[in-house]
Amino acid sequence: MNAAGGLVQVRVPDLGNFKDVAVIDVMVKPGDSIAVDTPLVTLESDKAAMDVPSTASGVVERIHTTKGGKVNTGDLLATLKADGAQADAAPARAGAAPQGASPPPAAAAPAPSAPARPAAPPGATLTPRSLLGVPTSYRSDLAPIDEPGFSRAHAGPSVRKFARELGVDLSRVTGQGFKGRITHDDVKAFVKSALAGGTDTARPALPAVPAVDFTQFGPTAIEPLSRIQRISGPRLLQSWVSVPHVTQFDLADITDLEQLRAGLKDKALASGVKLTPLAFIMRACVKALQEFPRFNASLDAGGANLIVRKYLHLGFAADTPNGLVVPVVRDAGRKDVYELARQLAQLSEKARAGKLAPTEMQGGCFTISSLGGIGGTAFTPIINAPEVAILGVSRASLQPVYRGGGFVPRLMLPLSLSYDHRVIDGAMAARFTTYLAQALAEARGLLEAVL
Ligand code: COA
Repeated sequence: MNAAGGLVQVRVPDLGNFKDVAVIDVMVKPGDSIAVDTPLVTLESDKAAMDVPSTASGVVERIHTTKGGKVNTGDLLATLKADGAQADAAPARAGAAPQGASPPPAAAAPAPSAPARPAAPPGATLTPRSLLGVPTSYRSDLAPIDEPGFSRAHAGPSVRKFARELGVDLSRVTGQGFKGRITHDDVKAFVKSALAGGTDTARPALPAVPAVDFTQFGPTAIEPLSRIQRISGPRLLQSWVSVPHVTQFDLADITDLEQLRAGLKDKALASGVKLTPLAFIMRACVKALQEFPRFNASLDAGGANLIVRKYLHLGFAADTPNGLVVPVVRDAGRKDVYELARQLAQLSEKARAGKLAPTEMQGGCFTISSLGGIGGTAFTPIINAPEVAILGVSRASLQPVYRGGGFVPRLMLPLSLSYDHRVIDGAMAARFTTYLAQALAEARGLLEAVL
C-alpha cells in the first residue's frame, strides 16, 4: 500500500505460489466509502477462495481489476482517497482462510453478547441487518444451519461471514454468481424472501424441475389443469414438503362385514340408502378417532401445542370430473351407519355435479380416501393438513388367511394410514390401524344405534 498525495493504493497480497488467480467477485465500485477490512474482491484459485480486504478507509477512486480477470501478488487492486485510517499491516492481507478450511461454526458465529457494531456509512462495510432492515428476532424463522452443507457451499469467506451473521444456511441458497457462486446479493435475496413468505419460504429451497421442450421428442398438446387442480396442487405440495409423513399399512378382515352388508343393502336401497363399504369404514373411523383423540387434533401455528377438537367432522375424497374434492360429513360421531351412507351419497352427488357449497368442504378433522371402488392394493395418501392423519382404503380381495391349523379364504381390506409424525408416533399409528381393523372385523358393532 502506498500513499501518494492523499491517495492510497491497495495491492494484491502475497499469494504464495499461486499465479494468475481469478477475480470472481468485485465488491466495491468507484465512489463507495469503505472502511478498513471492507472486502474489495474475492479471488479463487483451484484450491481456495479468499477475500482481499481493504487496508485503509476512504472513498474508492478507481478499481484496477474486473470480475473474471486474473491477478498476481503485488498487482494494483484499488486506489482510495484516504481518510487517514489504515490497518497496521501492509500490504493488503488475504482476508480469510481458504474456503476448504473455514473456521468451525462456533468461531464464525457472532457471540451472543457481542456489542452492537456502530452503524456503517452508506456503502461501507456490510452491516447485514441494517442493510436488510431485519429485526433480530427473524432468525428463529430460518431453518438451522446444516454445517456440512454450509461448508461445501460455493461461496467466499466474506459471504460465509455475512451468512453466519444472518443465520442463513448457505446450503439452501442458490448462487447467481460466476459458476453458481453465492454472492452477498444471493444471501440478501434469500433472507428477504424468507421474511416476505414466513417460515415456509425459509425452509430448504426446492430444486426446480428442469423445463424440457418435449416437442423435440415428438408431438404434444397443452391441456390446462382444472380450477380445482390449480387450487389443490399447491396445498398438496405444501403438505407433502412441510409435514413429515409416515404411512402405516394394515389389512382388515371384512368377510363378515360384507356378508352383513349383502343382507342389508337391498332393504336399505329400497329406503333410498346406498349402503357401500365406505359407510362402514367411516363408522369404524369415528370409533377409532374417539378412542385415539390425538388423531382428531392439529398443531397450533407455533407448533408447540396440540389443539384437540371436541367435535368430529369427517372428510372423504371424492373423484369428480373437475378433479378431487373433499366434502365433509358434519358431526359424523353422532350419525349411525345408515345416516353416514345417506350423507356420503348426497355429498358425492353434489361433488360430481360441482354443486358443493364451500362450507360443505370445510372444518374436516380427518379424511378418508377410498379407492376401493377402483382398485389397487395400497397407496400413500397425502395428509389434508392441518389435519394430522388420513386413511387410504384400497380394494378388498379374497386372500388365504391361516386360521385354526389351515388356510381359509377371507375378504381382506387394505388400509393405508398416513400420519404426521410430529404428532403421532409409530406405535400409536399401529394401535389405531389395529383398532380400526378390529372394528371392521366385528361388523355388528358398526350397526349399533348412535345416541
Ligand atoms: N373394496 C372392494 N369394493 C369396494 C370397495 C373396497 N374397498 N369400496 C367400494 N367398493 C365397491 C362398492 O361396494 C361398490 O360396489 P357395489 O355397487 O356392487 O356395492 C363399488 O365399489 C363402487 O362404490 P362407490 O360408488 O365408489 O361408493 P363408495 O361409497 O365406496 O365411494 C366415493 C364413494 C365418493 C368415495 C368414490 O366414488 C370416490 O370418488 N372414490 C375416489 C376417491 C379418490 O379419488 N381418492 C383419491 C384421492 S388422492
